[in-house]
Amino acid sequence: MKLGYYQYRPLFGKVAHNRKKVVAALQQADADLIVLPELAFTGYYFQDREECLALAEDPDSSETIDALHALCKEKDMYVVSGFTERKKDKVFNSSVLVGPNGLVHTYRKLHLFNEEKNIFDDGDIALQVNTVKDAKIGMMVCFDWAFPEVTRSLVLQGAEVICHPSNLVLTFCQQAMLTRCLENRVFAVTTNRYGADTRPRGSVKFTGKSQIVAPGGVLLNSAPGQRDALHVENIRPSDANSKMITPLNDLLGDRRPEWYQELTAQGVKK
Ligand code: ACM
Repeated sequence: MKLGYYQYRPLFGKVAHNRKKVVAALQQADADLIVLPELAFTGYYFQDREECLALAEDPDSSETIDALHALCKEKDMYVVSGFTERKKDKVFNSSVLVGPNGLVHTYRKLHLFNEEKNIFDDGDIALQVNTVKDAKIGMMVCFDWAFPEVTRSLVLQGAEVICHPSNLVLTFCQQAMLTRCLENRVFAVTTNRYGADTRPRGSVKFTGKSQIVAPGGVLLNSAPGQRDALHVENIRPSDANSKMITPLNDLLGDRRPEWYQELTAQGVKK
């Protein structure tokens, strides 16, 4: 599978401009699956929830989904993209999987970061794995990296490739994803944006350095911090299927969930 990312700098609020830029760039890609950043077409730093709702799109009537669908059909490829999703009076920080037949699946970010909690509704769709050509893929969004339960749940469902649209402002994620890929023996594409959203409430700067990691925590490729980058790696998704970390240690089979039931309970025991 030809698996890649497109790192760029969306202009805040310029959805049509950003869409044109992405489609033009992906026209040049020789890939089966490309991962784009979080909130890939609107930008990130909304003034308030109303501004976000006004820029968001309902995937059922979205020029952005239509453009990605047309691109995927023409090139026989798939795209995972961060997506500012409107559903009636709700707005989600979502990720969409789009392919030659259109929208395949929408994931809504489960773990909102910082002030996102004042803007977005909480994700409410179960983690799910989808088949893309010869790979099983799972989606998560940015700060979900800090909750290892997300990657683990996707891997327990058979995910071979974690697609991870991001708008990272801290510097911990890239290193942490090496560990997610080591402890789960899975591939991951973390696509980050770069540049800054300078808005009435201040400026938020994003850190680039998108990356592709192989099972075992092997860094296959890392992008520069503040530049456009379109990169594709040839991978064999089935390399993620053996979970043996030593001849006698199976990372999934050796789990002892009866000893960590707290992981699925609500709240924190004091
Ligand atoms: C983030 O979740 N955008 C840091």
